[in-house]
Amino acid sequence: MAADALPYPLRLQGSGIVLREWQPDDLEDLVTMLDEPAIARWTPMPSPFDIEAGLAYLKRAQTGRLSGRRIQLAITVDGGEPLGEMLLFGVTGDRREAELGYLVGARHRRRGLATAALTLLSGYACGTLGLGRLLLRIDPCNTASTSVARRCGYRLTGEPPIAQAGPYGPTSLDTWEYVEGLPGPRRQRLRNVAARRYGRRP
Ligand SMILES: CC(C)(COP(=O)(O)OP(=O)(O)OC[C@H]1O[C@@H](n2cnc3c(N)ncnc32)[C@H](O)[C@@H]1OP(=O)(O)O)[C@@H](O)C(=O)NCCC(=O)NCCS
Repeated sequence: MAADALPYPLRLQGSGIVLREWQPDDLEDLVTMLDEPAIARWTPMPSPFDIEAGLAYLKRAQTGRLSGRRIQLAITVDGGEPLGEMLLFGVTGDRREAELGYLVGARHRRRGLATAALTLLSGYACGTLGLGRLLLRIDPCNTASTSVARRCGYRLTGEPPIAQAGPYGPTSLDTWEYVEGLPGPRRQRLRNVAARRYGRRP
């Protein structure tokens, strides 16, 4: 692993959740989670997402983790059943910027999990990793994702949309950013929002 590789293995805890490494025995839960219309609509996952796709996905995840190029963690409540996924990738050479991504299984949505996971990994990325600017790329029609971004203190950059082709026709992605150095009370408020929201609806 390169000297500037991202930490592996990693376990992050806070805001009522635990982010942990994927494990081989997560395969069944992973396939159930990713073989779903909203995942097919809003993410680049293959659809249908079958056991073979799941095996390839876990293998790629492990390769990415071992190389230290990305952080790819299962969202859990207590380190057990995976309920979603949180990613950090595309770290720039100067280690100032990176992109993040997230998804939550259909059965576990609207419980504050994505808000908690994005808050937790954003805090770790800026605090421990020392990154100064975090990016999200979101289709403006993806209301759930833009709401999560806004709740976690991300804001639209106004950069030109990124055009992409997909199975549902051409779409475009807006860029959202979180810049380290927000005034303290606002950042604290965001942390509190995630903790309160997840605690409120177990
Ligand atoms: C986007 C996604 C990760 C949100 O996960 P989640 O755990 O349900 O999000 P949260 O519970 O933290 O939602 C926080 C807020 O976002 C908004 N929100 C979430 N889902 C929403 C939806 N379907 N419609 C409208 N608003 C929504 C709400 O304001 C919600 O707060 P509320 O429940 O008090 O109204 C999930 O819907 C998902 O996995 N979608 C498919 C994959 C995807 O789009 N990934 C992002 C690609 S950019």
